Amino acid sequence: MVHVQGHILLSYDKRMRFVETSRIPGFYKHSVEERRALIARMHQFSDEEMEQFSSAVSLPVETADKMIENVIGTFGLPLGLGLNFLINDKEYVIPMAVEEASIVASASYIAKIVRDAGGFKTEATERVMIGQIQVVGCEDFHAAKEAIESQKDTLIQKANDAYPSIVKRGGGATDIDVRILNEDEKSTYNQMLIVHVYIDTRDAMGANIINTMVESLAPTVESITKGKVYLRILSNLADRCLAKATCVIPPALLASDGFTGEEVRDGVIHAYEFAASDPYRAVTHNKGIMNGIDPVVIATGNDWRAVEAGAHAYAARNGTYGSMTTWSVDEEGNLVGELELPMSIGTVGGASRVHPISKIAHKLLDIQSAKELAQVIVAVGLAQNLGALKALATDGIQKGHMALHSRSVAVAAGATGEMIDIIANRMVEEKEIRVGRAEQLLEEALS
Ligand code: MEV
Repeated sequence: MVHVQGHILLSYDKRMRFVETSRIPGFYKHSVEERRALIARMHQFSDEEMEQFSSAVSLPVETADKMIENVIGTFGLPLGLGLNFLINDKEYVIPMAVEEASIVASASYIAKIVRDAGGFKTEATERVMIGQIQVVGCEDFHAAKEAIESQKDTLIQKANDAYPSIVKRGGGATDIDVRILNEDEKSTYNQMLIVHVYIDTRDAMGANIINTMVESLAPTVESITKGKVYLRILSNLADRCLAKATCVIPPALLASDGFTGEEVRDGVIHAYEFAASDPYRAVTHNKGIMNGIDPVVIATGNDWRAVEAGAHAYAARNGTYGSMTTWSVDEEGNLVGELELPMSIGTVGGASRVHPISKIAHKLLDIQSAKELAQVIVAVGLAQNLGALKALATDGIQKGHMALHSRSVAVAAGATGEMIDIIANRMVEEKEIRVGRAEQLLEEALS
């Protein structure tokens, strides 16, 4: 049973004490207004903040006009809440902006199973991002490399001078390394020296910080190497800015609809091994992971293209594109899942501070740092993957998917209130989920 008391949502624990929770049974049965009211009380949102949820003002066109060019309007996405998440013993209500039915339901369903198993455990590395400088046309690439290495400290200082505010926040450039690419090739086009500048961007995603720093270093790098600098840009393969989530689930918690827990566990592991061995499957498997990750990245105002690019490149880091997750069985027979990904997101700067809904999303998440947000995001990705694999290895995804899809079809046909579920259920029973059929059923029901 769930109560709202003060600013947090509370439920009874086993010893009948009130505890803060992200577990809100039956949340989906409430109307949108009731859900908003619950969440508003839980997080002490002001009336003004709640107003932002109304589609008419969720992103004012005047704000949008300052964000990109040639603006003619805004584009809305459903914003749902991933529930039941317990991560490192902390409760999280997770905002997810996404258009695909069943993603939020599936993430919340798996999060419930994992919380019953003790929750997700997560960790993250320091947030070190990479800026790249491409140098071509050096007469002696080895001498140029050594020259850069011998002037490391000067270059780091110069980079930090170009963006002093990040240094004041405890971050900044910390290291440099250099590689020679295509050394043995004769073409002057593909022989190059690549300078990596490692930059701690603290709670920012850091694109502006990194790009400013590497651009500022270009003249010095040219004079040290006697070469010509072309590209100066961050790398989205942020493999020094990683977040990892794990879960350990006793098979009993996985049993469902005529499948034993052991059958589900083994099906999930077989599904994982398929993705680990076949790039055609790995892409779809990983798309399912990004189904969970992107909606949180979007809702928090982060750059989902950067996260996508980094995640897929990391999945190919061993030379072959493979599964982002791993699933195995431990000695006690538990299902063990793990997801580690680069996570170039931020909690300051960018759209996260401009977009009114993403400001609310941050408040909802109650996140203290980018490191913490990165860990929440990978936990959602792991949950999403298990949701897909569990369904695929048992009933197939269409059963659950069509049940949820039928609701959007009913809405598209004009159903409102309780008619949505009545029409949706009829279409599922008839196995005919089409707007045309929903319109007929609606007309019959209302005539
Ligand atoms: C659909 O959006 C995602 C899945 O295809 C993922 C998967 O196959 O693992 C169900």
